[in-house]
Amino acid sequence: MADKLIIFDTTLRDGEQSPGASMNKDEKLRIARQLERLRVDVIEAGFAASSNGDFEAVQCIANAIKDSTICSLSRANDRDISRAAEALKGANSARIHTFIATSALHMEKKLRMTPDQVFEQAKLAVRFARNLVGDVEFSPEDGYRSDVDFLCRILEAVISEGATTINVPDTVGYAVPELYGHFIKTLRERIPNSDKAIWSVHCHNDLGMAVANSLAGVKIGGARQVECTINGLGERAGNCSLEEVVMAIKTRRDYFGLELNIDTKQILAASRMVSQTTGFVVQPNKAVVGANAFAHASGIHQDGVLKARDTYEIMRAEDVGWTTNKIVLGKLSGRNAFKLRLQELGVQMESEAEINSAFAKFKELADRKSEIFDEDILALTSEGSVTHDKEQYCFVSLSQHSETGERPQATVVFTVDGKEVKGSSDGNGPVDASLKAIEAHVKSGAEMVLYSVNAISGSTESQGEVTVRLQSSGRVVNGVGADPDIVVASAKAYLNALNKLHNKADRVAAQG
Ligand code: KIV
Ligand code: ZN
Repeated sequence: MADKLIIFDTTLRDGEQSPGASMNKDEKLRIARQLERLRVDVIEAGFAASSNGDFEAVQCIANAIKDSTICSLSRANDRDISRAAEALKGANSARIHTFIATSALHMEKKLRMTPDQVFEQAKLAVRFARNLVGDVEFSPEDGYRSDVDFLCRILEAVISEGATTINVPDTVGYAVPELYGHFIKTLRERIPNSDKAIWSVHCHNDLGMAVANSLAGVKIGGARQVECTINGLGERAGNCSLEEVVMAIKTRRDYFGLELNIDTKQILAASRMVSQTTGFVVQPNKAVVGANAFAHASGIHQDGVLKARDTYEIMRAEDVGWTTNKIVLGKLSGRNAFKLRLQELGVQMESEAEINSAFAKFKELADRKSEIFDEDILALTSEGSVTHDKEQYCFVSLSQHSETGERPQATVVFTVDGKEVKGSSDGNGPVDASLKAIEAHVKSGAEMVLYSVNAISGSTESQGEVTVRLQSSGRVVNGVGADPDIVVASAKAYLNALNKLHNKADRVAAQG
């Protein structure tokens, strides 16, 4: 029986730290459910002590998810650790992940602490955490740039205090594969009680080597946990990408000889969900999940693949979920078939009223679009597309006029707390005019920091999926809207973002 590699997903914590990627509780829960379907071993659900919003998100995920271990990050102090333990109370399997910086630079300039103080605080934190939960991970932040002798001393001490996982972050993405692999190996060889803990790698992608470094940490260093995020989401250049590291381990099992729990068929759905929720679009040539990852454009390649697919393909597209792009429902499909498909896609609706609202939207879409794909259903049921009673702004209708040589005009009808209102404006283009029409009435004053359009299923017949990122009083929120008409999709996305700015719960969750 081969060794097992633990997949620790930190999309909801380190991934969310990426500016503009903040998610609300419902969005995090939706992603956590997909991560559970993906069968990740550990979900780092947030940093419970950082805000009430994060606390609630960790708590809600801990209560809902049964098959993955739920983890909360915490600084190495009693308050943070108690808060993490409290948020994790409902979890079937809970982990506290505590960290403190250990590099000379961070200790001196950031923490203003001596190495001895850091040493004591790390020990006390792990001891305190172990009294609350049985599963404690310790990370020496900026570990890769830390003095190896000091690291050996502190890691030996925290293992003695009961740390069950030791994670070695390359916080600033400075490592190169061979050196990082040997660094982990050295630590494991030099620390006398290293065999009492599972060793973990956590690499940032500043030099584009996060996946390579993580794999070297596994192969050379003997790490048995990889920390990663869907689509490599994360601060600056991001984290190690889950889909790449998982498919590397699986495809090159001959070399790594490791087992994974992951249901790789759920990878694409996870990638799309994260991209849609955060507005961080996946580049077409991204390994595994990019639109071109399995597309063979050149005649020679196409010919080869048709004769024998392994001439140019090292993975099967369907193994990572690419087969979902098929027509599943049509105009004549009933509510039951729709509901069943939602269940198959893992979409959870809070109430029958929500299912009815989504079904009505599905019927409306089926009237306008002959082929309905899984992607359409997912977009239709995502945050911002299904009407919640609690929402302040709801889209009703839009009309716009644009003609070459004339300035476009738009009128948007929407409801504010259930009451219908109308806004009109001109603009540089129909989208600009429509969003200005909404703003003319709402007067949010929010600054738009991102606007992006994506064709959900490829062709011009596809629905357009729009992300609008708004910033107001230091908070950043993402609004998403989908419709075959991209001007309407834009108006829906804008109203969705305004709802998030307005929503109290999101107010605590958002960055800033
Ligand atoms: O990159 C890092 O150092 C981290 C730690 C908190 C684990 O994310
Ligand atoms: Zn990190």
